[in-house]
Amino acid sequence: MELHADPRRILPVTDPDRRELVLSCGAALFTLRTAIHARGFHPATTLMPSRADPDLLAIVRPLAERTPDPRVVGLARAIPRRRTNRRPFRPTAVPRSTLPLLRHAAELEHAWMSSLDAERCGLLRDITDRAHLDQLADPAFVTELGRWTELRAGTRDGVPSYATAGSPADESWLLDEFGAASQGTRPDPLVVVIASLTDGRLDRLQAGQALQRVLLTATAAGLHASFISPPILVPSARAELRRLLGCGVWPQVLLRLGYGSPLPWTPRRALEDVLLEKLVSA
Ligand SMILES: Cc1cc2nc3c(=O)[nH]c(=O)nc-3n(C[C@H](O)[C@H](O)[C@H](O)COP(=O)(O)O)c2cc1C
Repeated sequence: MELHADPRRILPVTDPDRRELVLSCGAALFTLRTAIHARGFHPATTLMPSRADPDLLAIVRPLAERTPDPRVVGLARAIPRRRTNRRPFRPTAVPRSTLPLLRHAAELEHAWMSSLDAERCGLLRDITDRAHLDQLADPAFVTELGRWTELRAGTRDGVPSYATAGSPADESWLLDEFGAASQGTRPDPLVVVIASLTDGRLDRLQAGQALQRVLLTATAAGLHASFISPPILVPSARAELRRLLGCGVWPQVLLRLGYGSPLPWTPRRALEDVLLEKLVSA
């Protein structure tokens, strides 16, 4: 199976260098590998196989039948249950014993993951607030965000309004959760960053796989997640976040993890829309 990026689905204002596109494809690739593994085949994977075709991101060949690893079967079972939960989380602390599991999930996919302590969360809160104001000051960003988050009849693209219903319209939920934690009225939110050592296309593809492995591991542990995107998407904020993290790594994804209320399922594109050609050998 070949995995191709779909350049028609880029968000040119939000994602001018296609970083998020490659991360998203990495997440899809991990889902594919997990599903193949859970069906009893080894997913032999080649990343970036063609210099001539940079949109060909991976080739996956299901090889040699084998007994699936029960841990991977657990991740496969989490695939249909995983969803992005943008609503405020319940004030229940995530057991710190979950962290090593999530960190290990990222490391298995050649990425680096760390959680942010209360002090860094406070600084992140300021970075996020300023970065989001910068985003909202750009009319092109606001137009693109509106196009991507309005449910349009006859399309399955974008984030439907019911998936954001009940969540604050801006990033204020994040500020509220951090604020309440610093006042001692709720536990610190669990905020993790997935990062890479360099910031090339291959790093992003691997970070995307790490993202999905972390998300499925979190789902299997009963957790929900949502994305904190302004500090990643606004270049000056990303530079600040790099300095905050310290060790020279490139932040690729920031996640808030916790226990949320149940959510409806978001739509997927039709299979014939994403599976372009079927070659069936005799
Ligand atoms: C790389 C990446 C970046 C994302 N960034 C955001 C984001 O900034 N804000 C957001 O609300 N959701 C973000 N999402 C979540 C997607 O909107 C979501 O996965 C998609 O709409 C499908 O919904 P589901 O996760 O509930 O299945 C991101 C997802 C990926 C893979």
